[in-house]
Amino acid sequence: MNQEYLNPENIEVIEEIELSKDAYVIADERVFALYKSHFEACDLLLLRAGETDKNLAGVERIWQYLSERGAGRDASIHVFGGGSISDIAAFAISTFKRGCRLTLYPTTLMSMIDASIGGKTGFNYSGLKNHIGSLYPAEKIFLYHDFLESLPADEIRQGLAEMLKCKLLDSELPTFIMSASETPDIDCTLEYARYKMHICMIDPWDRAIRRLLNFGHSFGHALESLSNFELKHGDAIYLGMKLAARYSHDQGLLSKKGLDEYEMMLSGYPLPAKHFAYLDRYSSDELLPLLLQDKKSGSRLCLILPTDDGIRAFESVVF
Ligand SMILES: NC(=O)c1ccc[n+]([C@@H]2O[C@H](COP(=O)([O-])OP(=O)(O)OC[C@H]3O[C@@H](n4cnc5c(N)ncnc54)[C@H](O)[C@@H]3O)[C@@H](O)[C@H]2O)c1
Repeated sequence: MNQEYLNPENIEVIEEIELSKDAYVIADERVFALYKSHFEACDLLLLRAGETDKNLAGVERIWQYLSERGAGRDASIHVFGGGSISDIAAFAISTFKRGCRLTLYPTTLMSMIDASIGGKTGFNYSGLKNHIGSLYPAEKIFLYHDFLESLPADEIRQGLAEMLKCKLLDSELPTFIMSASETPDIDCTLEYARYKMHICMIDPWDRAIRRLLNFGHSFGHALESLSNFELKHGDAIYLGMKLAARYSHDQGLLSKKGLDEYEMMLSGYPLPAKHFAYLDRYSSDELLPLLLQDKKSGSRLCLILPTDDGIRAFESVVF
């Protein structure tokens, strides 16, 4: 992994997209359709966003695109899309000729503040999400405001959930408008993106402080699976943060007053009303096996819980 790229200064807001005619470009087909004029004269590879196409066949299409055009190790490849596109493209690029130069142009709020940052790449394999991957940070990450303007409210909301998580981790981060019907402010988005990058710079291997970024994720991933992915990622993380607070209270780590405070801080998120039912739908017997499956490091389950002393990581051996 090229750790020097894990630098908040490597993320920039741009006013224009400038691509030379001979640039290697990989883009989400929907983004291409919406912003065609930015890609004129480029010989680009279009991919479909989403989990179904984040697979080995997609990786091979990228390798083939680069091979057929004679891309060398010094080739600079520009990737436009949300997290599903950047994850698979960055993986393919990290392995092509043992790694080419990568520039990301995240096009969703979720990818601007989360997926494009920190170098985690991957694709789904053998029915498991992100089962194969690498750590390969992009050389540059460019945030282009216009991309946020075409983003459906549902997708903006998913990014807001991750921003809310960061704000709970660090109250110094700027406040933001918790509305999925408004285009997020690009400068505020940049600050959140740089916050994640800063954490990744301090803890590139996800062994200490970076694990706190998983707040809401263990319970959230369990709900995502149990809902058969009816729940989108950000919505699931939001509910996961609420469940983590309840669990922490049940374990005696968070007082009633502390729980009420977390509930208050979590209250503005525009979750569709029907999704609140997920909070009481599953017993801990149903959630526990999925929490154990979600463990990130070998035989240890690491839960990130809000406590009366702040948000903390709790690790336990599970075999
Ligand atoms: N690598 C990481 O650290 C990391 C972190 C979080 C999530 N992820 C991954 O990110 C993926 C989710 O990414 P995502 O939330 O960005 O969604 P996505 O890439 O699946 O895109 C969501 C939808 O928005 C559309 N879209 C993208 N940009 C648009 C634009 N500017 N205007 C209109 N529509 C647009 C896409 O075509 C798609 O339909 C998951 O696969 C997840 O595993 C990775």
